[in-house]
Amino acid sequence: MSEQQTQDLQKEHQKYIVDLDGWQRTHDCCSLTIADDGKDVCLMGWVQFRRDHGGLIFVDLRDRMGLTQIVFSPDIAPKAHETAHILRSEYVIAIRGKVRPRPDGMCNEGLVTGKIEVVVLDWKLLNTSKTPPFAIEDRSDAGENLRLAWRYLDLRRPVMQGNLRLRHTVAQAIRSYLDEKGFIEIETPFLTKSTPEGARDFLVPSRLNPGEFYALPQSPQIFKQMLMVSGFDRYFQIVRCFRDEDLRADRQPEFTQVDMEMSFVDESQVMDIAEGLMARVFKKVFNKDIPLPFPRMTWGDAMARYGVDKPDTRFGLELVDITGIVHGSAFKLFAQAKLVKAMKVPGGESLTRKEIDAFTDFVKVYGAQGLAWIKIKADEWQSPIAKFLSEEERNGIAERLGLEKGDIVFFQAGEPSMVNAALGNLRVHLGNHLGLIPDGTYNFLWVTDFPLFEYSEEEKRYVACHHPFTSPKDGHLERMTSDPANALARAYDMVLNGNEVGGGSIRIHSAEVQKSMFRALGFSDEKAEEQFGFFMRALEHGAPPHGGIAFGLDRLVMLLACAMSIRDVIAFPKTQKATCLMTESPSPVAAKQLRELNLRLREQPEKSTSPANLQEQS
Ligand code: AMO
Repeated sequence: MSEQQTQDLQKEHQKYIVDLDGWQRTHDCCSLTIADDGKDVCLMGWVQFRRDHGGLIFVDLRDRMGLTQIVFSPDIAPKAHETAHILRSEYVIAIRGKVRPRPDGMCNEGLVTGKIEVVVLDWKLLNTSKTPPFAIEDRSDAGENLRLAWRYLDLRRPVMQGNLRLRHTVAQAIRSYLDEKGFIEIETPFLTKSTPEGARDFLVPSRLNPGEFYALPQSPQIFKQMLMVSGFDRYFQIVRCFRDEDLRADRQPEFTQVDMEMSFVDESQVMDIAEGLMARVFKKVFNKDIPLPFPRMTWGDAMARYGVDKPDTRFGLELVDITGIVHGSAFKLFAQAKLVKAMKVPGGESLTRKEIDAFTDFVKVYGAQGLAWIKIKADEWQSPIAKFLSEEERNGIAERLGLEKGDIVFFQAGEPSMVNAALGNLRVHLGNHLGLIPDGTYNFLWVTDFPLFEYSEEEKRYVACHHPFTSPKDGHLERMTSDPANALARAYDMVLNGNEVGGGSIRIHSAEVQKSMFRALGFSDEKAEEQFGFFMRALEHGAPPHGGIAFGLDRLVMLLACAMSIRDVIAFPKTQKATCLMTESPSPVAAKQLRELNLRLREQPEKSTSPANLQEQS
């Protein structure tokens, strides 16, 4: 049937649409079982599928809970049967009928309702539907852009319904746990001043104050600290945060944090509460007790052993520093490098040249020039670089790494940041590639003792590693100015399976220390006063010692749902280009709106892709 004919037919069917007129649902589509045999029921939902079989018409009726098979029989209810032929996928209907067992051999063990069907006695058409652009089922092969453009249909798919229900369960578990622990939920403004979380701000022009802008909060950091000064003691909020940064599978421009702050605490109390929170979530979601307390690892250890600050500890392949062994090597690349690290892959000798070439391309993304490797064969070291290594160097490497026949070793040499990023990320890539990561395992880890600062090549100055309100570690106050590269912070991240799910710190609560921090970050006293004067005033008025943490709710739910991207656990997410394909935002605004805001565009922006074209593109 042509598209036009389908549309004409659907228009024709619209004349059958009627009101609910007092009909009330008795059950959802996932509750009737054999125990309900003989019951009179009323169900409502969407037509998943219609099959005509020897006079009988079968329909799978779907709602948010599941599916129930309904059957129109010419012998039992001829009038209801006569009109049922109009039913199409996604039509919305209400039925009244009687539950009966399915005939022998017709049961569907995969469905809760698989042993029964409902024989329709009467039914109503509540609405028709155009043919959806993709089938509403989990095994949809529709591309993500198409799904995002038609998000309300995508969200009908059971997997998406499940993800959002899981998100709700997690949020409810968090709220009840924090409430029990004496936290109160307080909302903080969205139209506010820039907060220095490290990303770009989204700005909102002020009509009433021409030429001035609000910034959407990158987090409620300053406000939650203010609430501690106000004496609220324990605050939390499940709150939207906005960051204009490059997007990845685990990043969205607007995302949700579980944000909390506590007064009169040190690291251990914040960590205890945070661990308890995760334990509650796991109990609610999986009915599982997770072992507490979580292991802890310093940032220095994490970087040394895993090359990244969020190690996935579900598998081995740890990195080993061999700089000392090869510093005098004839192999110049190793001899001259600031850092040389090796990663042994047991049994990796069978990796093909093609696979190794692909790994080489992989590490280039992290600034590596190439990827050196050695295969440990029974009688020789097979490698393009083995010939450059002396006997002593070989022995040193073999001993340090505990090499055995059948292993492969990958090497990276150069600037420490590049070496760690290249090998650290290759490690995770290999973990996946070689199937080393066990399914269904959740490894939590605290990473502590982060550096206070990191050097920004772009800005040519030190910037805060966490944020500028993070307290230096005891004894590291002096270093803020004398040795910023080695000053450590009272900051901690919670890592789950190699993902940073939360981060926080004990804060600076002395105005003087906060001033020194701004100076260390290169702010003049005037600039600090202009941007954070209000905050410094607050610290001068009896700020208690305090600290807190914020979790990325989207990331946490993504991991619990085993989803590939946080977009799959957000009802209406943005694309990688920060657009919403459904509402077509961002979009140009009328000249009048710009005039009201006292704004003028410098140049005509390029036209964006309209969702109408996407169906063809996908
Ligand atoms: P931080 O910047 O580490 O800390 O953020 C806390 C957590 O939020 C999540 N997250 C994101 N999730 C999705 N998309 C993003 N773009 C994104 N950015 C961050 C991460 C991260 O661990 N104010 C501090 C917290 C504090 O100190 O209490 C803060 O925002 O899971």
